[in-house]
Amino acid sequence: MEKMLTRLTTMSLIFFFFFFSTLVAGKSQGFSRSLSPEALGLKKEKLSHLHFFLHDIVEGEKATAVRVAEAWMTNTSKTGFGFLAIMDDPLTEGPDLGSKTVGRAQGMYASAAENEFALLMVLNFAFIEGKYKGSNLSLLGRNEVFSEVREMPIIGGSGVFRFARGYAQAKTHKITVESSIVEYNVFVYHY
Ligand SMILES: *[C@@H]1O[C@H](CO)[C@@H](O)[C@H](O)[C@H]1NC(C)=O
Ligand SMILES: *[C@@H]1O[C@H](CO)[C@@H](O)[C@H](O)[C@H]1NC(C)=O
Repeated sequence: MEKMLTRLTTMSLIFFFFFFSTLVAGKSQGFSRSLSPEALGLKKEKLSHLHFFLHDIVEGEKATAVRVAEAWMTNTSKTGFGFLAIMDDPLTEGPDLGSKTVGRAQGMYASAAENEFALLMVLNFAFIEGKYKGSNLSLLGRNEVFSEVREMPIIGGSGVFRFARGYAQAKTHKITVESSIVEYNVFVYHY
């Protein structure tokens, strides 16, 4: 009887040893491992508010946005459905293009709605000023350009904006045939 008990205990010990060793090893095996935020030097998450003006110049020698493609029916669509433009728009501190440049909006926009004027926006904000110099934010959203305020998600970032998430609010400041000036308020969580 006693012998059997000892054998059982030994067997369960062996079992638990293998069970836990696979669990522990499983954590660092293969191509992934879990990590504490401190190991990446991440401290407290903070919320920042960025305010700037985007200049989208579509005509003239100094154009910053260019139409690169359109569909066979774009020219008869009341919303320009199917066109695609690439932009490298300057971002300035104030509404005047001559005010301090803080970065650029690089990416593309496309007319993606048949019945209202709504753009699909895919772009990176590349900042060149202050503590955000060299850091980027990525935006992906729906821009119904003739609405008062359009909200678009910030889906990530790099540099000081690693792990970024938040939203941007765009408000048209001034619009002409040649260009539009859009006021951006960006609210973003990052480390
Ligand atoms: C639209 O563009 C097509 C070529 O892509 C052309 O054949 C057609 O005439 C254009 N229609 C208008 C209304 O400009
Ligand atoms: C942000 O974008 C700029 C311009 O494309 C690039 O030079 C820089 O390396 C990017 N920053 C990071 C942290 O990836």
